[in-house]
Amino acid sequence: MEDKQLAAEAAVKYIQTGMTIGLGSGSTVNYMLEALAKRIKEGMDVKGIPSSVKTEKLARKLGIPLIGYSKATKIDLAIDGADEVNSSLQLTKGGGGSLVREKIIDVAATKLIIIVDYSKMVTHLGSFPLPVEVVPFGWEKTAERIAAFGCNPKLRKSDQDVFISDNHNYILDCQFDLIEQPEQLHEQLKQTVGVVETGLFVNMTDMVIAAKNGIIDTRH
Ligand code: 5RP
Repeated sequence: MEDKQLAAEAAVKYIQTGMTIGLGSGSTVNYMLEALAKRIKEGMDVKGIPSSVKTEKLARKLGIPLIGYSKATKIDLAIDGADEVNSSLQLTKGGGGSLVREKIIDVAATKLIIIVDYSKMVTHLGSFPLPVEVVPFGWEKTAERIAAFGCNPKLRKSDQDVFISDNHNYILDCQFDLIEQPEQLHEQLKQTVGVVETGLFVNMTDMVIAAKNGIIDTRH
């Protein structure tokens, strides 16, 4: 079994009947959706809140009951992937372009479990270019302001076209040398006019389940 799948299946063990589950995005989460769908077929009663159009489509196809985020009174548990995880359980997310909805859901959950293969575990964030969602209007000027923080922002493309997020925004992939202070950088970027959200997820994660060569490593 692939490590992503192993981490995903380990996370599903934390889901109990009656729960409302935040459903993250990405290929690791897709394995989690498949495992969850099996539990539902066996009689587990849960509702999911999808964090992206892609997750919503797959969850519907697999027969996972869904509710809208605005209708939910609570999110007991969110399970999401990540692009990088450091030893303080701070994350870089947004490789799939779903960072805004992911953050809205992940921050609202009573508990957040991150599932990754071990290659995502890093000493310092920053090797993976930081995704920053920006308003399309004046994005070039926003990119200039972001560059002043020490990175080289690149407009994300999908084939030849500009990548458009589920919220109809653009994403700038920002290559920093090293992100020494993720919380501070997040605050600076958030105060930059034109920025909608950053892919830095700090002080949110309760547990990371990382799998390497078939072995699970759980961190709190
Ligand atoms: C999407 C994300 C994903 O969770 C992240 O990119 C990890 O994806 P994968 O599980 O495919 O490696 O943040 O916006």
